[in-house]
Amino acid sequence: MTAPRVVLGVGGGIAAYKAALLLRLFTEGGASVRVVPTASALRFVGEPTWAALSGQPVATGVWADVHEVPHVRLGREADLVVVAPATADLLGRAAHGLADDLLTNVLLTARCPVLLAPAMHTEMWQHPAVVANTALLRERGVHVLEPDSGRLTGADTGPGRLPEPERIHAAALELLAGAPGRAASGALGAPVASGDLAGRHVVVSAGGTREPLDPVRFLGNASSGRQGAALAARALARGARVTYVRAHTEVPDPAGAHVVPVSTALQLRDAVLTAAAAGGGADAVVMAAAVADFRPAAPSETKIKKSDDDDAAPVVELVRNPDVLAGLVAARREGRLPASTVLVGFAAETGDATGSVLEHGRAKARRKGADLLVVNEVGGGRAFGTPDNTAVVLGADGSERAVGPAPKESVADAVWDAVAMRLTRGRADQRGDH
Ligand code: CTP
Repeated sequence: MTAPRVVLGVGGGIAAYKAALLLRLFTEGGASVRVVPTASALRFVGEPTWAALSGQPVATGVWADVHEVPHVRLGREADLVVVAPATADLLGRAAHGLADDLLTNVLLTARCPVLLAPAMHTEMWQHPAVVANTALLRERGVHVLEPDSGRLTGADTGPGRLPEPERIHAAALELLAGAPGRAASGALGAPVASGDLAGRHVVVSAGGTREPLDPVRFLGNASSGRQGAALAARALARGARVTYVRAHTEVPDPAGAHVVPVSTALQLRDAVLTAAAAGGGADAVVMAAAVADFRPAAPSETKIKKSDDDDAAPVVELVRNPDVLAGLVAARREGRLPASTVLVGFAAETGDATGSVLEHGRAKARRKGADLLVVNEVGGGRAFGTPDNTAVVLGADGSERAVGPAPKESVADAVWDAVAMRLTRGRADQRGDH
């Protein structure tokens, strides 16, 4: 196999130094990498670093080596273009097809998958202009990773950190491996991408519900909503229309999704069932939300006070919440949802004396009656709040696919791969193909 040809574009941000680590991961993995830093990137990390680490000349401008027409050749010959960090300015120039330096020229001539890893201050990432540019790029099939949340350059923290080089590298390998959707995922300037979920409506629930005890207190859970956000972002990148029923999350809403904010399990149930049934029925519903199984029977309308006279503590009575996934399965069985709607559940499991994580997952898959159940091990710092996840996608048909440890985007892609397969199969069955 010939070495994959990667163009690594580097934008002018402090995170440019992390691109040097990403470059190492590529070269150690056997890729042939041409680095294309912007002029401002070179103010952060100089040309010798890129040349030494890539073992190749560094392409810095449209006016160097003009006889080789580098702005056309680099883009055309690449198997993958990765930009890390992608600054707000680069996202804007890429979204609008500007070509005032070598990197943006490469982006216009590339016909391979393009992966952008943004990094900027939270205010910039959340600015409507950047949100719109990101949505436009994703609509065209460009893969824009969600930035990480955490410490930024100054004292500030929030979403905007460059994803860790390992995560960018894993996403890049996924694209190079030709994950479904790649063929349709156009580069910048290519015709509008279709994506393997184009024309599909999917509903994704995400985050943790909160069940009020009184006006200021609630029973909640440790879900960060990252896996649900990654599912929504990947579905958008693959062309789907996404209704994102979002309980409490620590991550921003994916640009381009129709967001339905909810708080409690009952609100989430109503929002999911409404969205699933709308317009003749959704093509798929993915229940990534951590839904509370119980809620306080009678939340206090006023703040619960402690007594100064004794140590008495209130006893809170709980009642069962409806199981939303079971409700969806029942709705489909009773014809309130189309038979073709693919239903996906998640199972957060810990192994115990009665069975392993996978055994519990298989039992839950049978019990829940969904088409797919994504089983992940929780506890000990795994899954909750972390960017990575290890999961097994169990099919009602007995299929099992292990993913990870991998970025939550990769787990999301594995889920959409399985959903897309079932949707295509459903269509073929309707036509009578076998
Ligand atoms: N779920 C749901 N409604 C609930 C609880 C869970 O729809 N009231 C969904 C979750 O979104 C997830 C799946 O069911 O997709 C599995 O949730 P989990 O909490 O792991 O399983 P439970 O069925 O609650 O079983 P247990 O708590 O006994 O492990």
